Parts: sequence; structure tokens; C-alpha cells
Amino acid sequence: MRSRAHFRSHPIHPILIAFPVAFTTGALVFDLFGWLLGSAGAWSTGAYMSVAAVITGLVAGVPGFVDYVSVVPPDSSAKKRATWHMAVNLTALAIFAASWIFRDRGSLEPGAGTILLEAVGCGLIMWGGWMGGTLVYRNQIGVDHRYAGAGKWSEVWVQGAPGTAVEVANADELKPGQMKLVHAGDRRIVLVKTEDGYAACDDRCSHKGGSLAGGVAACGHVVCPWHGSTFDVRTGAVKAGPAKEPIAVHRVEEKGGKVLLTLA
Ligand code: FES
Repeated sequence: MRSRAHFRSHPIHPILIAFPVAFTTGALVFDLFGWLLGSAGAWSTGAYMSVAAVITGLVAGVPGFVDYVSVVPPDSSAKKRATWHMAVNLTALAIFAASWIFRDRGSLEPGAGTILLEAVGCGLIMWGGWMGGTLVYRNQIGVDHRYAGAGKWSEVWVQGAPGTAVEVANADELKPGQMKLVHAGDRRIVLVKTEDGYAACDDRCSHKGGSLAGGVAACGHVVCPWHGSTFDVRTGAVKAGPAKEPIAVHRVEEKGGKVLLTLA
């Protein structure tokens, strides 16, 4: 799914995390050598890197949090992973801040507690980075992959209660095989243009909650990007697993050049 916090389609969070990763590692290395060799220059560098690690980590977390709230599919395996990713990284930053308890404020010389806490913090940063990699490379959070003819990523926010029709697109907006993500309150619906007209289904794969809007639509079917489950967009029936349960479908009609969606 396309990142919400992006610059010209490039997600900002993965760009910024290079800084806290470098500064946390650098702080540990310089403090350790400064402590072992009695080098004030080395431990001063470590101290400044430790501060930079916390600041840049918090800054990098802002676009990450935006994507956590608005992009990671709710009620999915990725949401659980993203929650752990955020908690582990914030804990690592808190540990780096706490490591100053054991540092001499005048000379900036680290104590053994500083080194120990920084080592734990670095370990957590690596664990958090591992989960972040899984979120991108397996769950495709922030990946804006577009198959041939899929058109540009498209989404819209509407207000509407179940049973009421709301306008979600112009009739000529999508071509067959293209999709649009509709946010209706806290629900996410995928509008799909098939060869036979428009159809709509929940944006949640019944396997592990993958976003179908980030998948592929073809021949009246939508394929989940996570493990390939395939659903009929008109009936919601499973056409290929691993999903076993069907997905909810919604009524769609074209009227006066507009596409109207009625939530089930
Ligand atoms: S989440 Fe596994 S196939 Fe969709």
C-alpha cells in the first residue's frame, strides 16, 4: 500500500531511520572505545551521538506513526507487527535517554551502566529494524507497486452509514482492472472496475487481514498481495486460498455519471 507520509511516492520513514540507526550504533562504539581507552574525544563523540540518536529517532517516528495509523491495515498481522515495531523502537530510545543517568555530566565520561544500556538499546533497534523490514518486504507497507494498466493509486474519504448510498467516484474514473480505496468512517472498501462494471468489497483479506487495494484486480477477481488469496469481487467467494472465509461485498450502482456505494 502506498505510504501516506511520502515525498513523490518515496516513503519518508525508511529514509529517516538511517540516522537513528547510525547514531545509536555510533554512540555505543565511541563510548565503548572511549571507556576502554580512556579517550575523552571518543566518549564525547559518543555522548553527542547518543543525543542525536534520540532526537532523530523521534523525528523518524513521526512519518512512521502516520503510516501506522492510516496505512497499515487494521485488524491484521501487519498491525500487530507494526505495534511491536513502534514499541520496541520507542523503548530503545528511552533506554538511550536513560543511559545518561550513568554518564558524568561534566566530562561526559560514560559509566559501565551507560555502555550496558546502549548495548541493550542497539539490540532493540536491530530487532525493531528487523520487524520494519518485514513490514516493508513482506507486508508491502509503503510499497506502491502498480501492475500494467492499474493506473495511479487512488483513494477517497466519505461519510456514510450502512444502508445509505454515497458517491465514491465518477463513472469514467476507473478502467477495467483498476481499483480505488474508499474510507467510509472506520471501514475500508475497495471499489473495483471489472469488465462488467463496478463492484465493491471489503479491503480486508479474510486470511490475515491484507489490504486487497494493494493487490491485483483482474477478470472480476481481486488477489491479496500478502499470500495470494483470490476472491470474486461480486460475491466475495474465495477462489484460491490460503483464505477460507469469503469477504463482504457491497452494492454499487452507476447513476448520472457517478458511482454510488451502499455499505452492507
Ligand atoms: S492475508 Fe494471507 S492471503 Fe491475504
